[in-house]
Amino acid sequence: MFITLEGTEGSGKTSQLLPLVEFLRNKGYTVYMTREPGGTSIGEQVREILSNFENTEMHPRTETLLFQAARAQFVEQVIRPRLAEGAIVISDRYVDSTLAYQGYGHKQNLKEIKALVNYAAEGLMPDLTIFFNISVETGLERKKNGDERNRLDAYPVEFHQRVHKGYLELIKLEPSRWTILDANQDKDVVQENLRTIILKNLQEK
Ligand code: TYD
Repeated sequence: MFITLEGTEGSGKTSQLLPLVEFLRNKGYTVYMTREPGGTSIGEQVREILSNFENTEMHPRTETLLFQAARAQFVEQVIRPRLAEGAIVISDRYVDSTLAYQGYGHKQNLKEIKALVNYAAEGLMPDLTIFFNISVETGLERKKNGDERNRLDAYPVEFHQRVHKGYLELIKLEPSRWTILDANQDKDVVQENLRTIILKNLQEK
């Protein structure tokens, strides 16, 4: 089973991932935890270029292609082999981040972006995607107080609003793959709800 976590900035998905994985491992599941656009040595190098504040001149098409370059490597080197071994793979971000950020956020042609994403991932889609739903302002505020800021966080708030709206559009297009999680709540409540969603889906498989 391939599970992805998605959300706008500061939605808390990254800090929820580790306790979730520990919980599932304690239950006896083999779980592989990873993140986009990293997860491979090549991917991490590409991530450096994407995150670097000095790269202010980066064009949206360049940004889109770099994410796909990292993704192709990630799919081949990490996701497919782990799934083939029978592990549950949980990734912090995946293809929907490109559709939401580069597609809706940068207002690029969605049909073209979808084709690129499909090429990079060779059509590999998650079985389940969890959307950490938080108001854009709350998320950006949380992120401001954290230390892991990157070039994309610095895009104007309108960009992040479009990303949030974009996610909701994506969910409408494919409701059976998505579950919306209220990420405005206390972190323990979010973790509890997250565990419930994942266990329910694993049991249904
Ligand atoms: P990261 O520091 O991991 O942020 P977060 O904790 O919010 O996931 O940086 C990832 C950034 O890259 C984040 O701003 C979202 C963005 N991103 C895209 O714009 N497109 C993509 O395809 C992916 C995978 C990430």
